[in-house]
Amino acid sequence: MPYPGAHAAVFFVLSYALRRPDEAHGARMNSTEEDMMEAISSGRARSIMLVGGADTGKTAVAGRLLERLSMGGEAGALDLDTGQSHIGPPAAMAWGMVKGGFRGWEEIAVEGFYFTGALSPPGNLLPSLAGAKLLMDAALQRCERLVIDTTGLITGSIGRIYKQYKIDLLSPDVVVGIEREGELGHILDAYRFQSRPRVFRIGVPPRAVPKGAATRAEWRAERFREYFKDAREVEIETGSVGLRFTKGDGDGLEGRLLSFRDDAQKDLALGYITEDRLQEGRLAVRTPLPPGAAFTTIIIGAAKALF
Ligand SMILES: Nc1ncnc2c1ncn2[C@@H]1O[C@H](COP(=O)(O)OP(=O)(O)OP(=O)(O)O)[C@@H](O)[C@H]1O
Ligand SMILES: [Mg+2]
Repeated sequence: MPYPGAHAAVFFVLSYALRRPDEAHGARMNSTEEDMMEAISSGRARSIMLVGGADTGKTAVAGRLLERLSMGGEAGALDLDTGQSHIGPPAAMAWGMVKGGFRGWEEIAVEGFYFTGALSPPGNLLPSLAGAKLLMDAALQRCERLVIDTTGLITGSIGRIYKQYKIDLLSPDVVVGIEREGELGHILDAYRFQSRPRVFRIGVPPRAVPKGAATRAEWRAERFREYFKDAREVEIETGSVGLRFTKGDGDGLEGRLLSFRDDAQKDLALGYITEDRLQEGRLAVRTPLPPGAAFTTIIIGAAKALF
């Protein structure tokens, strides 16, 4: 180099020239919702994951994608949000099938679910990632196209690490990021030069409105009420089943959620503990599990059923 600082100057000029035009203006969006929908519905991507902060319209956009993808056929919907669940009860991830157009989340029957034992991923990353992967594999065996809705956890290093490793593990064909002002940059910029997953970054739909803590809590409570409305009381002899915990162990069990799992490792139904007599080898549980259903293991979670 002919003069001191030339390396730095060349680096500066090159890095400026290599920036994409949208970045040069401080925005990172690379698509509109309509263009993204068109590209996905006319393309061959099988799995499409929505990523975005709280109340950015992920679930609403997932519904519109499902409408497009299921028109004249069928598409799978995988709900990985254990707090604001739309398929199955809270504290579980679940998937279902949409046929001939999307008619609302409440119309989607649960094809499979996975109990994570918590209402959000922090402090519960392993059950959350394991459940996401197992359900995605199960869903992809049954459907040609799968839309994956996720939690709004995107901030800080936990949001970044959790989302990036979830993308690694599930390996979706497409990620759709929905953002207000570049807040997904710390997660999605890393994929800019990769051909897979293809990343669309769109703005928050104008009609998306923040829900607030009270509305979120009421949504969960209503989902629990609905799930447990026909529940019955059962007594479990803990000596005759396998016993697991999603986190920690057996202190303060009353009110805590659990799942009944069968011999094929499949979650059958949730319950919540009404009486803790674990020391005597018994637990009283309320559950919609049908009488006679064969379970081999119960998995006790950290979260309580609040409704
Ligand atoms: N196109 C739309 N038309 C009408 N309402 C909308 C639209 N998009 C989003 N909303 C409303 O905005 C709110 C937030 O949207 P939505 O629940 O889809 O966001 P989210 O990112 O999935 O939120 P969460 O973080 O809770 O998962 C909801 O009350 C939803 O009904
Ligand atoms: Mg949502």
